[in-house]
Amino acid sequence: MNAAESHNTQKIRTAVCGALGRMGREVVAAVLADPQLELVGVADFNAASSDLHLNIPIEASLADMLTRAKPEVCVDFTHPSEVFANAEMMLSAGCRPVIGTTGLTPEQLSLLEQKAEALNLSVLVIPNFALGAVLMMKFAEMASQYFEHAEIIELHHNQKADAPSGTALITAEKMEKARKMAGQPVFGLDNIQETHVQAGARGTVREDSGLHIHSVRLPGLVAHQEVIFGAPGQLLTLRHDSFDRKSFMPGVCLAVKKALGIKGLIYGLDSLL
Ligand SMILES: NC(=O)c1ccc[n+]([C@@H]2O[C@H](COP(=O)([O-])OP(=O)(O)OC[C@H]3O[C@@H](n4cnc5c(N)ncnc54)[C@H](O)[C@@H]3O)[C@@H](O)[C@H]2O)c1
Repeated sequence: MNAAESHNTQKIRTAVCGALGRMGREVVAAVLADPQLELVGVADFNAASSDLHLNIPIEASLADMLTRAKPEVCVDFTHPSEVFANAEMMLSAGCRPVIGTTGLTPEQLSLLEQKAEALNLSVLVIPNFALGAVLMMKFAEMASQYFEHAEIIELHHNQKADAPSGTALITAEKMEKARKMAGQPVFGLDNIQETHVQAGARGTVREDSGLHIHSVRLPGLVAHQEVIFGAPGQLLTLRHDSFDRKSFMPGVCLAVKKALGIKGLIYGLDSLL
């Protein structure tokens, strides 16, 4: 019997790191509401000023929480500067990280993959847990086979630490893969040479594909993205909006449940659907 099967009746011992943040609070509520999950540990740097009313302690130190609670899976919604060390710590404690925090570099992903494989554990890195966003990325990949011109606009609240968003980067990777398969890997090849009156006017440009990504940061936004495809006489716009952080929770709970049955690195929710 594998680890996943042995959990047919047992609840999955689940922890949350970053439990006092915007996403962490939603995850705590979602785990508590899911009959297959048991909330055994919560950690947050701001534990001393916690207003969460739980029947388990909230710990300021992830290491202390892992030692006490011994979770099988730990969801991380913290900060791009913290997430790599957190994920390493979770794996070392025999716990499977489910990472929602964005900003991990390809090198860090590779190191986490190696560590998870060596320990016979899984590490799930999911830049966007919303089903609609996953479908938007899939449709963008499909459209990229046929359109040579496209740009990405991602829009988030003004407290977001990293830019471009993890969703924009994974979308770009998928679109680039599709253009390569179409035999012409560069977007906007016939665009004229531009003069930028101000630096950054055209967003950031992906080195190999020339794909432009524009990042908008405004209070009032949650997480939104448009992928716009242009061709003579027509425009195709794909847009996804997360208006509420609840949009991410079914994906988070799904990832926690899948984490026990797999080994190595999973990148992106579409790998789990
Ligand atoms: N994958 C997705 O679907 C998705 C969706 C929304 C946001 N995000 C990402 O999730 C991350 C968190 O977003 P947020 O809006 O919840 O941030 P936030 O700033 O509201 O919350 C982060 C929390 O983590 C805590 N924290 C930071 N480092 C810690 C550490 N090492 N140990 C313990 N606690 C720590 C902070 O005290 C804070 O309470 C960001 O990277 C954001 O881009 C991902």
